[in-house]
Amino acid sequence: MYPLGLRLVGRRVLVVGGGRVAHRRIPRLLEAGADVVLVSPAAHIALEALADAEALRWHRREFTPSDLAGAWLVLAATDDSGVNSEISALAEDARIFCVRSDDASAATAWTPAVGRHDGLTVATFADNDPRRAAALRDAVADRWEAGDLVAPRFRPAAQPVPAVTLIGGGPGDADLITVAGRRAVRAADVVIADRLAPAALLEDLPDEVEIIDAAKIPYGRQLDQDRIIELMIERALAGKAVARLKGGDGFVFGRGGEELDAATAAGIAVRVIPGVSSALAAPALVGVPVTERGVVHDFTVISGHLAPDDPGTLVDWDRLAAGRGTLVLLMGVRHLAAIAARLIAGGRDAETPVVAVMDAASARQREVRARLADVADADITSPAVIVIGEVARVR
Ligand SMILES: C[S@@+](CC[C@H](N)C(=O)[O-])C[C@H]1O[C@@H](n2cnc3c(N)ncnc32)[C@H](O)[C@@H]1O
Repeated sequence: MYPLGLRLVGRRVLVVGGGRVAHRRIPRLLEAGADVVLVSPAAHIALEALADAEALRWHRREFTPSDLAGAWLVLAATDDSGVNSEISALAEDARIFCVRSDDASAATAWTPAVGRHDGLTVATFADNDPRRAAALRDAVADRWEAGDLVAPRFRPAAQPVPAVTLIGGGPGDADLITVAGRRAVRAADVVIADRLAPAALLEDLPDEVEIIDAAKIPYGRQLDQDRIIELMIERALAGKAVARLKGGDGFVFGRGGEELDAATAAGIAVRVIPGVSSALAAPALVGVPVTERGVVHDFTVISGHLAPDDPGTLVDWDRLAAGRGTLVLLMGVRHLAAIAARLIAGGRDAETPVVAVMDAASARQREVRARLADVADADITSPAVIVIGEVARVR
């Protein structure tokens, strides 16, 4: 085996067979820019969708030898060994490398298990034992993720490394951040973390990483945010990789937009990593879907930090009260009585089920069920996601 990297941009790769193996391999070939031609009477739906989107060309028929013309690489992935052998032999004659799905040892090319991270690619082979190759790839990936695999750069990265990364940390459990989010936290020199961000992620960071606890910055509310932005920009301009870690998704009542604007205005490159918002995660964690076929086709995420009669509110409470969609209320504990009364006055059924999920995705997670009519008397404490609508009924 002689490992080699192939530049496939614009080069034809012939894939014969549209089943499981083609389904797994074709996306990566497309990612590499290959001109993929699929020959198969039938194909997985996902491959059909790629053909419909003109990401590849699909000939809906059996293989014929002329299909090999112009190909740089062939993947013989039919479920008929005889056909794969025939393709392989014809490819050999034409001096085209051929990967076989059925018998790697009879093939002229093998596909490694591949992992990619931060400009690095690891490709592993294990004599005819693809699971072993995948296990090694995963072991390397785990060490990358844990940050204990050292691979210093000796050349500048092709792309400038963004100085600030705005990371949605998910609803609280360290397992519910995205893979990209977790990697970005581990790659940071400075982490500015909010109160509702997954704190467990910070425990594993090396001592030299500066952790700024945004919840403890001792000013009033507005100044908090100004000071956070100031610190974020200051550290980034000093050449530090800054991770701004927030609870849920930073762009859902998370002031992420302001931070994006401020950093951009200061000439700092920003990367945004979305997170799983508590608006969706909290109901899901107690088995409440926010939409349901035949029951409700819309949901609205609302900030309840201002009472419905507050002149500053931007929420159209009349429309919400008159509709039948699910209402997902964040920051709604303080004004819950007024909000429930307003919804009932505007037409929502007083019997509408309500579920409040408190401290979601933590060991303290608690849920309370009520009806819209009596939810104001329920034992609901902050932070809570309050779901109002038919979907909140006990299943
Ligand atoms: C300022 S908002 C931030 C929302 C966040 N960006 C998100 O996408 O989840 C804070 C509110 O989010 C809700 N929240 C966030 N995390 C929560 C959790 N773990 N459990 C319950 N509610 C949560 C509460 O309604 C809380 O008052």
